[in-house]
Amino acid sequence: MWRTGLAFGGDYNPEQWDAQTWREDDELMRQARVNLVAVGVFSWALLEPEEGTFDFKWLDETLERLHENGVDVALATPTASPPPWFSLAHPEALPVNADGVRLTHGSRDTYCAASPAYRRAAARIAEVLAERYGHHPALALWHIHNEYGTWCWCDAAAAAFRRWLRNRYGEGPDGLAALNAAWGTAFWSQHYTSWEQIRPPRATQYLHNPSQSLDFRRFWSDELLAAYREQRDAIRRYCPDVPATTNMMLPSDYQPVDLWSFGREVDVVAINHYIWVSGVDGDADTAFSADRARSFGGGRPWLLAEQAGGTITLDSRRVVKEPGRILRSSLAHIAHGADGAMFFQWRASKAGAEMWHTGMVPHAGADTRIFRETTETGVALEKIAEVAGSVISADVAILMDSDAWWALDHPILPSPDFNYLREVKRAHRALWDANVSCDIAHPEQDLSRYRLLLAPSLYLVSDAGAANLRRYVESGGVLLVQYFSGIVDEHNQVRTGGYPGAFRDVLGIRVEEFHPLTPDVGVRLSDGATGRAWSEHIHPEGCAVIATYAEGLLSGKPAITRHDFGAGAGWYVSTNLDNESYKAVVTRLLDEADVRPELAGLPPGVEAVRRCADDGRSWLFLLNNTDDDVAVNAAGRDLLTETTIARATPLCLKAGAAAVLQEPATDSGQRKAGALDGD
Ligand code: GLA
Repeated sequence: MWRTGLAFGGDYNPEQWDAQTWREDDELMRQARVNLVAVGVFSWALLEPEEGTFDFKWLDETLERLHENGVDVALATPTASPPPWFSLAHPEALPVNADGVRLTHGSRDTYCAASPAYRRAAARIAEVLAERYGHHPALALWHIHNEYGTWCWCDAAAAAFRRWLRNRYGEGPDGLAALNAAWGTAFWSQHYTSWEQIRPPRATQYLHNPSQSLDFRRFWSDELLAAYREQRDAIRRYCPDVPATTNMMLPSDYQPVDLWSFGREVDVVAINHYIWVSGVDGDADTAFSADRARSFGGGRPWLLAEQAGGTITLDSRRVVKEPGRILRSSLAHIAHGADGAMFFQWRASKAGAEMWHTGMVPHAGADTRIFRETTETGVALEKIAEVAGSVISADVAILMDSDAWWALDHPILPSPDFNYLREVKRAHRALWDANVSCDIAHPEQDLSRYRLLLAPSLYLVSDAGAANLRRYVESGGVLLVQYFSGIVDEHNQVRTGGYPGAFRDVLGIRVEEFHPLTPDVGVRLSDGATGRAWSEHIHPEGCAVIATYAEGLLSGKPAITRHDFGAGAGWYVSTNLDNESYKAVVTRLLDEADVRPELAGLPPGVEAVRRCADDGRSWLFLLNNTDDDVAVNAAGRDLLTETTIARATPLCLKAGAAAVLQEPATDSGQRKAGALDGD
């Protein structure tokens, strides 16, 4: 993807430093094997000090200097930080929050992405940059904007929302009738008789209309994507051959944009990932984000655009990266399909809002653990550069949909204890602990390559998604549906006649009633498992009952079921199982679907991931995320230590260490655990 194998570097902001520091940067970048930096991410005010007046001197010099130093550039469009003059000239482009308060300039991301003035100015600076630098020899990638996600509820956003709705539901009275039906406006007297009456879901007296809220989130994601496309297309007019991307945030608790749609529009998926928990949980989170990033791009190699070199400081969270973590996390992203590991940022700033965010070069300078580990990582990536372009092949996928997540965001649900991301992550963790590679998949995509699908809390599923999953099971797939899935349609309206409406036939069940539980009260199941927070009154309609509730109102009634459907099977788990029991169900299903781990018999916390090239070469990444040394039975040439590991001698992987084994040539289909075990 890049000229240089695996990308290594970070956001580079020379405009914050003097010439002497630039000279040191050049030297340190060579030492650390930096080969790609993102330049100009928030530099609009310097590049366009007055409307239509541009100053490119520092950027010209920076690109020349980097090029001479052998460092390529991901040139950013600086549109996440409009200059002060812009906000003064276009006060209507400042964002308005849901309470109707217009924000003032003074931070970053202080614009409304639906504002015509902002959109014009953003596309113009992108075009001007492309015209000037589109053929610069240092240019390797366009880094458009930064973390699309800022919200707005202003009148421009309202007008754009109405345009989006007319497009979705159709013009004229029929369209309006369709909207009224989709939003269920008969409830609480919300019937609209003209488009002009419709507003974004701003602060209101009590609950919003959930269908309206869902459409607003879809609309806003589309609006941000349109803003991305405008810049990308402006750039392509001058520079059609250099790939373009935007760095997407994968935060832990909310999702402002539909990453599937962005994945389709970028030339390479780029994500930012920050570890917010220490220990093995942080490693599991790294794998989860990396699997998501790969999946949003349809399996293509992707780019880790940002990670932290050391401690990052955000609200109350502080996570220190312990020794060895910079290298291991970078390798983990590469293992899961990234073709580069970058950081925010090259040099920690000495001023500004993020002066306490660390850098590859910390405030203390180069004579530091962080810079030494950074250099070690750059050297390691050089050694394993041959993996660039290879991919992961997974037999299992976890279904994930922004619509389901957004719909579950409604404040009044049958239980306050739903957390979409927590459920999806739990499914991922069960597979990660079992060393089974998995993709994240959208319910409407082609699923035929998977042997097993997990559907955690897929609350909303469209008719197309439901039909796709039915076809998947009919043709031999194994599907695990977890509680509170298939409940509402794409308009966020309940599928009536018994839950889970979208999956009743596949699962061979009908749920009559939900029985929410308080989170601290568990319910025992007949197989010894415990369920929490949730239970359901299920009527079997053709399914086999695997476990029943063993106490309470539902005692003796089905809790876990399995249904033969076509050539496949639909499993249902109707409660929030404790972790061990949940893992036991997943293990049983892996068995049923004949899915094997990448390497069998690894101790908990030791990770094995395999990347394969088209020509049959493959690399096994082994990551010891534990505090103990472990012996691993695997063979190949470790590209990091440049030693050959024979199968007869177990590889000793030190606590916190990693190995990247170039595997002996064999049919890649034979590689998974069983075949290797027998060697
Ligand atoms: C984000 C942004 C960066 C910076 C880092 C700090 O990911 O893209 O500009 O703010 O976080 O953690």
